[in-house]
Amino acid sequence: MEEEIEDIKKKLKKYSQEHLLNNFENLSEEKQKRLLEQIENIDFDLIKSLYDTTQNITTEIQDDQIKPIEFFDKEKLYDDYKKYKEIGEKAIRTKKLAAVTMAGGQGTRLGHDGPKGTYDIGLESHKSLFELLSDGLKEQGKKYGVIIPWFIMTSRENNDATVDFFAKHRYFGYEKDKNIFFFKQGELPMIDTEGKILIGEDGLIKEAANGHGGIYEALVKNGMTKKMRELGVEWVFIGGVDNCLVKMVDPVLMGIAIDKNVTAAGKSVVKANPQEKVGVFCKRNGRPSVVEYTEIPKEMSEATDENGNLIYGESHILCNLFNIDAIERMGSKPLPYHIAFKKATYIDKDGNKVVPDGPNAYKFEAFLFDAFGELDDMAILRVKREEEFAPVKNATGTDSPETARELYRKFYNIK
Ligand code: UTP
Repeated sequence: MEEEIEDIKKKLKKYSQEHLLNNFENLSEEKQKRLLEQIENIDFDLIKSLYDTTQNITTEIQDDQIKPIEFFDKEKLYDDYKKYKEIGEKAIRTKKLAAVTMAGGQGTRLGHDGPKGTYDIGLESHKSLFELLSDGLKEQGKKYGVIIPWFIMTSRENNDATVDFFAKHRYFGYEKDKNIFFFKQGELPMIDTEGKILIGEDGLIKEAANGHGGIYEALVKNGMTKKMRELGVEWVFIGGVDNCLVKMVDPVLMGIAIDKNVTAAGKSVVKANPQEKVGVFCKRNGRPSVVEYTEIPKEMSEATDENGNLIYGESHILCNLFNIDAIERMGSKPLPYHIAFKKATYIDKDGNKVVPDGPNAYKFEAFLFDAFGELDDMAILRVKREEEFAPVKNATGTDSPETARELYRKFYNIK
């Protein structure tokens, strides 16, 4: 142990992170072990380069060639609608589809005490987001005579609470490790404005989930894609936990992907107005991509065609379908990290707890759509917002439990 610690100290010195062991002696044996493990697993070169990027943040679209993307409109498929639907239905009936729900986020804007999926949006039934999602998945499965396997991505922080919640609700009729599976996403340490890795109140390194872009790597590393293959699955729908109208089973989307021979498909809804804070699908250097709202220049966000429609108007709603090969390919390449400046309580180098008034720490997140550049092509299907998109993001106002509840009630005709 002594020798191991000396080696670790040398490594920490090299990266000016010696403070990580300041309180080592006062930790329990179990925590000491965990801290050393954490240090062992940190890619310090990556952390250093991430810190360097915080000192030079650009939000411009550099030299990328951005072009509008072609899309199918579900409302205007005419005779092809039936064709795509039949192709997709056949694939679903033959158990080729699995669903993944990304539930590893912190849900900071909502501010619910617990995993976001456990949140009750205030319907008369008091069903949680997880239950609303499971209702849809079970109902669709029944329609096609199958049980759609469900994979839930959690984070280290919310995994136990999530699994306990499901256990308490008897997995909503699913069977753990048979047709419902839980897996944890990756994490990265948070750093302060000097590039120092933060120690949390538990004496351990303060790590945070690495963004929804961590999904591909997490699916592969945790053996989930292997499991899917064993189940005979070929297509995987990946969606968020916080859209209570998400349609995880869509034969038309699947049918288009299969018929067009692409490895991925995504759903879009028409952007409500040029200022709406959503990313939009586009082609970037000839590949499918999403331009974030923070990144899109004003002229581009406002540009319209001859009919007055937004040229970049296909909002990405985190509803995408991939074949397993594409997931494995995307999971094998590192994604760029985006920087978020957050408020984080920590223990300083003298062992004092610091509760900041405002943001003080950088958190690094990969975005799922940054991997789309790995795909040759992607079929985009425009669907109706009021049928498929009711996100719960904020505690009040837009995209809040109140707006989601109303959309849900309207869609299901609940008084
Ligand atoms: P958001 O980007 O809206 O983040 O996630 P969030 O964590 O729910 O909320 P804020 O930003 O902290 O308020 C969109 C979807 O991606 C998942 C979320 O759980 C949600 O389903 N997600 C996000 C992850 O699974 N892991 C992450 O690291 C981030």
